[in-house]
Amino acid sequence: MAPDGSGGLLGNDAQRQAIEEIKAVLGPKGWSQEPDTLAPLLVDTRGYYHGACALLARPDSTEETAAVVRLCNRAGLPVVPQGGNTSRVGSATPDESGAQVLLSMARMNRVRGIDPANYTMTVEAGCVLKDVQDRAAAQDRLFPLSLGAEGSCMIGGNIASNAGGINVLRYGNTRDLVLGLEVVLPTGEIWNGLRQLRKDNTGYDLKQLYIGSEGTLGVITAAVLKLFPLPKERATALCAIRDLDACIELLARAREASGDALSSFELLAGITLDFAYKHIDTAKPALDSDYDWTVLMEFSGLEPGHAMQNALESMLEGAFEDGVVVDAVIAQSEQQRADLWFLREAIVEAQAYEGASIKHDVSVPVSKVPEFIRRSNEALTNHMRGIRPYPFGHVGDGNIHYNITQPVGAEPADFMARAEEIHDIVHGITHDLNGSISAEHGIGQLKRDELKRYKSDLELDLMRALKSTLDPKGLMNPGKVLDT
Ligand code: MLT
Ligand code: ZN
Repeated sequence: MAPDGSGGLLGNDAQRQAIEEIKAVLGPKGWSQEPDTLAPLLVDTRGYYHGACALLARPDSTEETAAVVRLCNRAGLPVVPQGGNTSRVGSATPDESGAQVLLSMARMNRVRGIDPANYTMTVEAGCVLKDVQDRAAAQDRLFPLSLGAEGSCMIGGNIASNAGGINVLRYGNTRDLVLGLEVVLPTGEIWNGLRQLRKDNTGYDLKQLYIGSEGTLGVITAAVLKLFPLPKERATALCAIRDLDACIELLARAREASGDALSSFELLAGITLDFAYKHIDTAKPALDSDYDWTVLMEFSGLEPGHAMQNALESMLEGAFEDGVVVDAVIAQSEQQRADLWFLREAIVEAQAYEGASIKHDVSVPVSKVPEFIRRSNEALTNHMRGIRPYPFGHVGDGNIHYNITQPVGAEPADFMARAEEIHDIVHGITHDLNGSISAEHGIGQLKRDELKRYKSDLELDLMRALKSTLDPKGLMNPGKVLDT
């Protein structure tokens, strides 16, 4: 890193000049080259990728963002947009050249408006997801996107990565929750597509190109989000199930019994709860025994009262009588509900205490989840002695975080050196079941090469054609999703 804190590798005078012009446009609060300020932004949340940058730009408005991008475009400077820096695939980390501009959206954090009657809110990209949820709730509305990083991830990043989370089953992915977008194009032009319409059938749906494009086609600066009635009753249960197949049977029962008001249905393998109880002090066992498979589910009702609780209880009684469920606890208070959800969060953190882990974020048709897990477990345990599959996640969406923990006593580096062969096995089975190698985390840098193996040439050509049409100089978040 250069003494000024930048990578210091700008190629030519025009680029150096552009950096100075950007500083002038943004003013002293709008940029930094301080190593201490830059350091946390130049490493991804999992610590896989470390980058450098020529400048951290922190625009305060769409116009300032457009000015930065325009100056970068003119000088041929690559731009890496960043929100809360919570990408699971290295989408928001610049490369190591030190020649890229890191464009933080953090200062663009205004809620531009809420229209409760239209069930919409218009927000800037740098709004933290939790704040968006809270602002909607204050108007008796729900913004349903919910995920572990919600206290720090930003809505612009959620949209750019088409985030999933725990409520997709009922409300859809981020892609389904956006009605309009404002985007700064690679040229620095501003596309105002902030429409508040539920029906708009006027040709190509351009916003959908930007949603999930991980900053490779333009910079999302604001969005119109879809809101829903705020649930007035939530009924939550942790259930131990007979076996893996029982989870699919239980899912159907839960959807029916709730009148399709089932908002979450999460699978937790026994090992995940064991690790949580062992390593996270505040994680307390919710069931009296250990079980191989448990499900955390939630019904969300719109009426105050106990209709959902009653429906959940009688559904579970029937499932218990039929042997689908073997044990269950139903939250009797908001605190108990929070404790159950805390377990779901704790299992993610707990895995790190058992050494190195190799992660997968796959999806298969919901009905194929048991087959996927069984085949993967068998293939991996035959492949490596002592390997510890750690499956959990959004089984209601067919999305499993099929993580693998290293064998006890293995050298973490030796285990990680075998990541590719393990990905081959897991992604091979996923592909065989017509699944996806990235259900909700995106592609970023982590899965860019893997994408080339599993997408057809035709699909990749179409993606490249879009990229080169919309970003002909290849300056928007280069090296993410696609090679260029
Ligand atoms: C989760 O569902 O807990 C996360 O998507 C898992 C992860 O961050 O790897
Ligand atoms: Zn997830």
